[in-house]
Amino acid sequence: MSKIVVLIGSMRKSGNTDLLAQAFTEGASKNNDVEIVSVADYKVNPCIGCNSCFTRKGNKCFQNDDMSAIYEKLRVADIVVIASPVYFYGISAELKAIIDRLHTPMRNEFKIKKLALLLVGAASLPNLFDAIKLQYQLILEFFHLEDVGMVLVRGVKDKGDIEGNEALREAYKLGLSIG
Ligand SMILES: Cc1cc2nc3c(=O)[nH]c(=O)nc-3n(C[C@H](O)[C@H](O)[C@H](O)COP(=O)(O)O)c2cc1C
Repeated sequence: MSKIVVLIGSMRKSGNTDLLAQAFTEGASKNNDVEIVSVADYKVNPCIGCNSCFTRKGNKCFQNDDMSAIYEKLRVADIVVIASPVYFYGISAELKAIIDRLHTPMRNEFKIKKLALLLVGAASLPNLFDAIKLQYQLILEFFHLEDVGMVLVRGVKDKGDIEGNEALREAYKLGLSIG
């Protein structure tokens, strides 16, 4: 049984990212303890790069915002799932803000060993996910993390477009394969 934190990067509630992450969570919950953290429910400011957390007691950030609660969830996580809509070939700014706030020595106490990636985008371009996949790969290598798998969904634009898509089953099966 692993502790899995699913970071959802869309502000659009019940949108395509939410539904994909939900399908994953349904599968993963069979054998794991899964917690969803959606950017729609937390207000996280961007890292300003002051590096004051490096010298402050407990490596706390000077910003007293919702990231404090997310740090506590990540502290006990074994696996983190990055779920995001494609925004200009990248992940959403809100999700990137959460990831950037991990630029802190606090993360050395974390025990995250594995990552998974769930992405949705409106276009059908073959290279739609290339930039995010490269960044994901570099992060896996830098932090010596294992890739659990990815589900990448093209051609979903409006809310609900992903309904009935085979990708939901794929995400469910990916979740089920863990643990
Ligand atoms: C600011 C913004 C930028 C976007 N950029 C892209 C893009 O570069 N490529 C693409 O295929 N879709 C792009 N989209 C479309 C979303 O990825 C797509 O609508 C997705 O299904 C939204 O997921 P959600 O329902 O979880 O919010 C963009 C949407 C927004 C709002």
